[in-house]
Amino acid sequence: MSQNMPPQTRRPHAAAFVQDGFCVVPSQQVSILESVRADVVAYLRSMTKGGAGLTDEAYLNAFHKFSAPTALNDVRVGVHKTLGSSEVFRQKVFACARHHLEDLVGNEIVMQRQVGVVIQAPRDPAGLLALHTDCWSGCSPYEVVLWIPLVDVHDTKSMYICDRAQTERHLREIKAGPAPESTAALARRVRPGAQDLRMKFGDLLFFSSILMHGAEENQTDETRFVLNVRFKSLFSPYGTKAIGETFLPVNYLPATEVGLDYEGEFGAVHA
Ligand SMILES: [Fe+2]
Repeated sequence: MSQNMPPQTRRPHAAAFVQDGFCVVPSQQVSILESVRADVVAYLRSMTKGGAGLTDEAYLNAFHKFSAPTALNDVRVGVHKTLGSSEVFRQKVFACARHHLEDLVGNEIVMQRQVGVVIQAPRDPAGLLALHTDCWSGCSPYEVVLWIPLVDVHDTKSMYICDRAQTERHLREIKAGPAPESTAALARRVRPGAQDLRMKFGDLLFFSSILMHGAEENQTDETRFVLNVRFKSLFSPYGTKAIGETFLPVNYLPATEVGLDYEGEFGAVHA
């Protein structure tokens, strides 16, 4: 497919996405991103005592000092339900990424209903994310995951990812068999070639749902705070995550609006 699209017509992050399956870019809307982070901090402060006077970044990095490990899951669920499904919050997250996203999936876009929130306290084994691809759990290979660190991330405070060439090599090996005896065995094979993502607050990661990735126990002394949410073209093929249930349109064009209204009232057009 890629031979049909001359590489020189692509902006650098789009070319990197085709080459590597992912790209890391500075958000063009840092003030909105700061507002997104402020929303998260305001919610956490409403639920948890401690950390008065700290900047938003320092507060999130030190959050494990204010919330007992046993309470962390309730906090996680609360943030997810309250902020993650808020339309205002979703629109802000979209605004942070729209500039780059349109080069990856087009301008008629669906966005996952809920923005995911990952909170991984230091040395909390519950934060471990086993090696996987999102496609293995039913995501369409046409989906793009937006991963937004709300704090600077590095080493085990971050996640690891295999680029497209590595992922495809491992997938070919799995396809050729014999299958790895366990996810852990596969992770031992894959992990040495994977990259630890080092990102600053203000950076955005876009990665394809086909890529192998995972996260290890956070061995740093700071809490990892990350938002994640998936996007795709309104009209690219869906996996098991359908429009309406998992995805909602965030932008579509006039002809599409007329067509969707027509199909909704008069039925789909078949040749
Ligand atoms: Fe994933």
